Amino acid sequence: AFVVTDNCIRCKYTDCVAVCPAEAFFEGPNFLVINPDDCIDCDLCPVECPAGAIYQENDVPENQKEFIQLNADLAKVWPRITEVKAAPIDADEWDGIENKLKYLDV
Ligand code: SF4
Ligand code: F3S
Repeated sequence: AFVVTDNCIRCKYTDCVAVCPAEAFFEGPNFLVINPDDCIDCDLCPVECPAGAIYQENDVPENQKEFIQLNADLAKVWPRITEVKAAPIDADEWDGIENKLKYLDV
């Protein structure tokens, strides 16, 4: 499955959901996750993300491995999102900031 990682936090552009044929995305207040049980590994979403936040689970950077389990866990409690919506107004300011996990709202 594919995994949403750190740089999505507070960016949340949602371009990813527009291309997902499996409706595998779930939405929290400032982050999206992919349900690994829904993802069919089509590889369409990574290039759509302006923040470059999506990786195949085998390619998730070493320091972000915890996002694999986090996606699975949060997908169980957050609602599904299937349509693009406006990003936070300050999304571009947060793009590229490292270690945003401490800002994750659940
Ligand atoms: Fe959806 Fe494909 Fe991305 Fe999986 S890899 S989340 S199926 S767009
Ligand atoms: Fe997040 Fe990128 Fe989607 S910032 S909401 S994974 S387009």
